[in-house]
Amino acid sequence: MTADARDVTLSEVMFDRTEFRSEDQMKMQFRLRTLAHRALAFGIPVTLVMGGSFGARLAAQAGEGARQVETARHDDDDRYRDSRRDEGRHLFEKEKFGGNGRTCLTCHTRETGTISPAEAQELFARNPNHPLFRGDGSDDGVGGGAQRMLTDATVLVRVPLAANVSLVADPSARSVVVRRGIPSTINTPSLDPILMVDGRFGSLEAQARGAIADHSQGTEVPTAKQLEQIAVFERTEPFFSSNAVESLAFTGRAPGLPRGRTASEKRGRRFFEDVPLGPGNSKEGTCAVCHSGPMMNETNQFFPAPPFGRGGRFQTILVSELNQAGNPVIDFLFKNTDGSTTVVSSPDPGRALITGSVSSPDSLNAFKIPTLWGVANTAPYFHDNSAKTLEAVVRHYKTFFEIISNPGADGDPTIELTDEDQADIVAYLKLLK
Ligand code: HEC
Ligand code: HEC
Repeated sequence: MTADARDVTLSEVMFDRTEFRSEDQMKMQFRLRTLAHRALAFGIPVTLVMGGSFGARLAAQAGEGARQVETARHDDDDRYRDSRRDEGRHLFEKEKFGGNGRTCLTCHTRETGTISPAEAQELFARNPNHPLFRGDGSDDGVGGGAQRMLTDATVLVRVPLAANVSLVADPSARSVVVRRGIPSTINTPSLDPILMVDGRFGSLEAQARGAIADHSQGTEVPTAKQLEQIAVFERTEPFFSSNAVESLAFTGRAPGLPRGRTASEKRGRRFFEDVPLGPGNSKEGTCAVCHSGPMMNETNQFFPAPPFGRGGRFQTILVSELNQAGNPVIDFLFKNTDGSTTVVSSPDPGRALITGSVSSPDSLNAFKIPTLWGVANTAPYFHDNSAKTLEAVVRHYKTFFEIISNPGADGDPTIELTDEDQADIVAYLKLLK
C-alpha cells in the first residue's frame, strides 16, 4: 500500500485543538486550512448545476414522474390516482413484505418523517421488542441491543463500495456498514431528485425497493406497481411541511425567505441572503452559500470558488472529520485514476463511497445539503444525528467556520458566530416552515 503525498488521514482533524503545543498546532492548523479550503473551495458537480428556472425543472420532473407511473389512458382519471395513493398509503404504513415486521412508518413517522432518540425511548418503554429495534436498528445488526437507537437513533446502513474502493481490514468486502440517522421524508420526495445522504438513489421507486430489502428484510419482492404506488403516496399532502412548500412542488413558486418579526429573527435572516461574502463580513450570506435556492439545499453563485457556483448539492461541513458522534473510524483504500492509492480514515466518507473519488472535494466526507424547510420539526440533525438540537447544529457551525476561516495565515476574513449570532440563526431556522 503506497501512501502518497495526497494521503488524507482524517484522524488528523479529530483532536481537541487546545491540547496542541504551538509548533504542532501551527502544522495542524495548516493542514486544517488545506482540508477546509478543499472543503469550501470546490465541490460543485457540474452535472448538478441547475441552470434555467427551478420551476421549469420541477415541472419537467413532475412530467417525467407522471410518464413513468402512468399510461396515457389513465392520465386524467382522478379515481385511478386516488386508488394509487390509497394503495401507496397502505404499503407505506402497513405492508411488511414478509419481513421483520417493519413498515416505512416504523422509521418515518407521520409527524416528523424521522425518529428521534426521545421517540425511540418512548417506543422502547412501551415495547422493547418493537420492530424499530430489529435488524439494522439493533446494536449488533441482528437484533441484539438497543443502546445506539436509544441514544442516537441511528441505523446500520449498508452502502455498496465504488469499484475502486476497498476496506483495509477486509479487502474482499464490496460494501460497508455505517451509522446514519433517518433523514425526514417530509418535503424531500416531491422536491429533491437526489435521495439518501450520499445521493446514491435517483428515484423513489429504487429507494423503496432498497428500503424493503434492507430495513424490512422483506422476503416478498415488491412489484413495479407497488413501488410506484409508494412513490405516488410520498408525493401527497402529508409529506409537506407547509402549504408554501407544497405549492412549490405543484407550481414551482418558491416560498421565499420569511422576513422575520423580532429583531433577532431579522438579524438571523442576514445569514441566508444571497449576497457576496465580502472582506471582513462574517454574517451576510454565510449560510446561503450552501443553503440557497427554492429548497435552501444548494450552493449559490457566491460560493467562494469560481468557476463552480449555483446548484452544487454535496459538501463537507466537517461532520465526519470531527466525528462528534464518536462512531467507529474505518480505514478505506481508494485506488486513484493516476494509479496511486489513498488511505482514508473516516467514520463515513459519504459521497466518496459512491464516486470513488478523494480528489474531488464535493466527494470526500461530503453529504447531501439538506433542505431547511420544516427543519425545526425534524431533529436530530446531520447524517450521523450528532446534533440533537438546532442549538447544537449552530454550535457545530461556529467550530466549522472557525476552522475554515482560521485567521492570520493569509488575511482571509474570520467568520465568527457570536452567542447572539447563534441565537439569531436558531430563531430564524424556526421560521422556515
Ligand atoms: C430502519 C428504519 C427505516 C425504514 C423501515 C425505512 N427507512 Fe427510509 N431511510 C432510513 C435511513 C437510515 C435512510 C438514509 C440512509 C442513507 O442515506 O444511506 C432513509 C432514507 C429514505 C429516503 C430518502 C430521504 C432523503 O432525504 O434522501 C426516503 C424517501 C425513504 N427513506 C423512504 C422510505 C420508504 C418508502 C420506506 C418503506 C419502503 C422506508 N424508507 C423504510 C431508514 C428507514
Ligand atoms: C459548505 C456548505 C455549507 C454551509 C456554509 C452551511 N451548510 Fe448547513 N449543511 C450543509 C451540509 C452538507 C449539511 C449536511 C451535513 C451532514 O449530514 O453531514 C448541512 C446540514 C445543515 C442542517 C441540518 C439539517 C438536517 O436535516 O439534518 C442545518 C439545520 C443547517 N445545515 C443549517 C445551516 C446554517 C444555519 C448555516 C450557516 C450558519 C449553514 N447550514 C451553513 C452544508 C452547509
